[in-house]
Amino acid sequence: MRKLLSVIALTAVIGTAWASDLPNVRILAVGGTIAGTAASSTQASYKAGQLGVETLIAAVPEIKNVADVKGEQFLNIGSGNLTDDNILALAKRVNEVAADASTDAIVITHGTDTLEETAWFLNLTAKTTKPIVMVGAMRPATAISADGPANLLDAVRCAADSQSVGKGVMIVMNNEIHNARDVTKMDVTEVSAFQAPTAGAIGRIAAGKVVYFKSSTRPHTAQSEFDVSKIEKLPRVDIIYSHLGDDGVLAQAAIESGAKGIVNAGTGNGTVSKHLFPTLEKAVKDGIVVVRASRVPSGVVTTSKPDWDKAGFISSGSLNPQKSRILLQLALTKTQDKKVIEKMFEKY
Ligand code: SIN
Repeated sequence: MRKLLSVIALTAVIGTAWASDLPNVRILAVGGTIAGTAASSTQASYKAGQLGVETLIAAVPEIKNVADVKGEQFLNIGSGNLTDDNILALAKRVNEVAADASTDAIVITHGTDTLEETAWFLNLTAKTTKPIVMVGAMRPATAISADGPANLLDAVRCAADSQSVGKGVMIVMNNEIHNARDVTKMDVTEVSAFQAPTAGAIGRIAAGKVVYFKSSTRPHTAQSEFDVSKIEKLPRVDIIYSHLGDDGVLAQAAIESGAKGIVNAGTGNGTVSKHLFPTLEKAVKDGIVVVRASRVPSGVVTTSKPDWDKAGFISSGSLNPQKSRILLQLALTKTQDKKVIEKMFEKY
């Protein structure tokens, strides 16, 4: 009886045997528009996170020619509702799945709204060289020209390709391959929404063939120093979106809410307005780490004003505010030393 129970338990953990000699790809489903449905094929409003992973896989029978896949329903929600706890749990699950010797690669279906944030978090915390490819869709599964099935097939193609080993976490959408660090969502509705405005795409799926142009120069996944197995809770880091007339009231609210870090999505080259400056300067003196990012979607935030350096603000480099927030959260799990965190922003 005990033996039977342990066989059942083991089967629950590693699933049934893989069916073929093709690469073994696990598909973890988190939700989003790729699993969304509307009342009709032309209706603009729809509900994200409605279809289960097996339905998504069954809709793309061509996958069977590329890989042997197994689905796992991790969550089924709109990605705008994901929490820090959710992505921490996902990273832990990804590490468990990647540690299974029979798994060659992982595909994660996910909503597009925060896809880049989860991808970046996993890029810094997944302890594996196995390919991890994230994918979403801009149109729900019921739409007249749904992009989800083709994106899912491309994601599996990318994950199953031996060239993808050691490339870190990637996002495959609209026939393009992007690394998690540089990609961002640039359009609210178009299927070409995902772009890397400063660094460009790293590859393409051209007529079903995976073609790489370049790789990220930054350390990631197995080379990263961040270890989620030691993290139970991510520290609070808030993003302040700056604007004409910013008087620091939102920065003050973040401080009063107990933020351990603040990312200022500043105007232009990470500008901290003279009205906001005293609030952030005091925040640093009180032990809060402040990062200067930019609300402009492209470019590299440089250190450009002596009083900002003197105040101890850290430059985000080419990380956008939402990715700066993720890196700052992970950095704060290791240290509060501004100099060390500054080096992490230069490194990753
Ligand atoms: C979501 O992010 O879950 C909804 C939007 C999308 O997937 O495109």
